[in-house]
Amino acid sequence: MEFTRLAETRQSTRKFTGEAVDREQLNRCLKAAWLAPSANNSQPWSFVVVDDPKIKEQVTRETYSQLISFNKFATGAGAIVVLVIEKPKLISQIGGSIKKKEFSLIDIGIAAEHFCLQATEEGLGTCILGWFNEAPIKSLLHIPSSRNIGLLIAVGHPSDSTIREKKRKPWDQFCSFNQYGK
Ligand SMILES: Cc1cc2nc3c(=O)[nH]c(=O)nc-3n(C[C@H](O)[C@H](O)[C@H](O)COP(=O)(O)O)c2cc1C
Repeated sequence: MEFTRLAETRQSTRKFTGEAVDREQLNRCLKAAWLAPSANNSQPWSFVVVDDPKIKEQVTRETYSQLISFNKFATGAGAIVVLVIEKPKLISQIGGSIKKKEFSLIDIGIAAEHFCLQATEEGLGTCILGWFNEAPIKSLLHIPSSRNIGLLIAVGHPSDSTIREKKRKPWDQFCSFNQYGK
């Protein structure tokens, strides 16, 4: 897909058919994430794809509760991708600490979007999930206690292919040239 069209077509999918996702498609999405840039080429991530129905059900159960149920839709995704934050290279840690920037989180976000854009190209739907219970998911997937989960990505076959109009802040509040806010 032409890039502008791809960016317009990518949207958070919250209605999935429940069908499994082809591993070849998942691998192409992973390859796109693998190619993502990162501070000092630190690549402070690893991806755990959960497509086993039983494990997936256990993971998605940790994305909502009775009280806060907005992520319940994730149960219909064909796979849940868990983005684990790995230790960045020392140079990136030092640079981030001097400049007071969480480079790892920035890096993870870029890699997540690479994954989502390739998924869009594949005709799949995605939703990045920042709301989940980290500890039980770590335990389920045997993620070491020294590691944190940055994000989850729900990926699957959308049950509605309508592209919604994007809700974005006004252009003049979004960008300016040569001076802030002008
Ligand atoms: C870091 C991050 C965390 C997010 N967490 C959630 C989430 O927990 N649940 C959800 O439904 N959407 C989540 N989203 C999706 C956003 O709500 C969505 O990207 C935004 O509303 C813009 O809509 P669009 O993706 O359809 O363009 C998250 C997105 C990002 C980037």
